[in-house]
Amino acid sequence: MTPDYSLLNRQLAALLDTRDWLTNSAQTCAFIMEQVADLNWVGFYLQGEPELLTLGPFQGKPACHPIPFSKGVCGAAARTRTTQRVDDVHAVVDHIACDAASRSELVVPVIVNDHLWGVLDLDSPRQARFNAADREGVEALVATFIERTDLT
Ligand code: SME
Repeated sequence: MTPDYSLLNRQLAALLDTRDWLTNSAQTCAFIMEQVADLNWVGFYLQGEPELLTLGPFQGKPACHPIPFSKGVCGAAARTRTTQRVDDVHAVVDHIACDAASRSELVVPVIVNDHLWGVLDLDSPRQARFNAADREGVEALVATFIERTDLT
């Protein structure tokens, strides 16, 4: 069932009561992991060096690090600056399998003043877990995270 993303968005906005990026990114992924069903991993990858994603705050098993822009679903989101929604990660040739349990994936770029700050990655053990409403809902949560956080 699709969660009430508009309610989640208001709750997230209330939760983010500082402008600190580390606190807010940790809270955001913990909140999503708790509120959105059927996820096995949620976390941020940050663009540290150019064209390279560094693992940031996350919930779930230890993950792959670092990820170049040229690789995987996260790399595609960073490279194209568009949300990637994958129904079956096994069908993606260059998918990076951090956890064999993951079957579907949603990756939303975090763009601030035309700069790619990083991406938010959601993984599910259920095939086709993410529909268009999840995509819109999670994009709105990311917009709230950006609005309420000092990101440079
Ligand atoms: N599967 C991702 C890598 C990140 S992990 O799932 C945490 C990818 O292909 O980009």
